[in-house]
Amino acid sequence: MAVRTLAVACTLFLGMCIITNSKPMDTTHAFCKIVWLLALPCSQVKMAIVTQIKTMESYKLGPVGPVLIQANHTSAVGQTEHVNFTMLPTAMDQACHVEGSSMSEFWFSLFDNGTNYCNLHSVMEGSGLTSAPGFVEFTNDWLCLGFEITSCKGF
Ligand SMILES: *[C@@H]1O[C@H](CO)[C@@H](O)[C@H](O)[C@H]1NC(C)=O
Ligand SMILES: *[C@@H]1O[C@H](CO)[C@@H](O)[C@H](O)[C@H]1NC(C)=O
Ligand SMILES: *[C@@H]1O[C@H](CO)[C@@H](O)[C@H](O)[C@H]1NC(C)=O
Repeated sequence: MAVRTLAVACTLFLGMCIITNSKPMDTTHAFCKIVWLLALPCSQVKMAIVTQIKTMESYKLGPVGPVLIQANHTSAVGQTEHVNFTMLPTAMDQACHVEGSSMSEFWFSLFDNGTNYCNLHSVMEGSGLTSAPGFVEFTNDWLCLGFEITSCKGF
């Protein structure tokens, strides 16, 4: 019980850490930013994300660096969003802190119906990482437009 409480505290702490350290988002474009924690090594998380993006037709995989995976997503209405997954090892050996961000290319898609959230969440879900040990998703309404109202249909 004590261990569990500690893990939750760390999760919140790490999430807050990243959020308060990050630059303010460009608020003229629709965007979404999510932090995930997983009890898996980052190398394994990275492989799962890259493999998943390659299987999804609406995504185009861009450069894959040691910590950053970049991709573009084209939605049904023909809009493009830029998507990043950044993997940061944590103080714990077998854990990975992943930051996802998605931003619409055009300023006029400010109300995005949760597209940017789904761009990120669907990759995690499709790869099976949402059921990996220790999986936690951390975001909220002002880091992620439409996050509350979204059900990610058609991904
Ligand atoms: C993603 O879109 C940007 C801007 O349109 C472009 O510069 C970049 O090459 C694209 N990346 C991929 C992988 O298509
Ligand atoms: C993705 O990362 C690149 C390189 O750091 C950055 O220029 C770009 O703005 C990022 N895009 C998003 C959607 O966070
Ligand atoms: C959002 O949903 C509304 C109603 O379903 C639709 O009319 C609108 O085109 C959608 N906007 C985007 C950016 O997908």
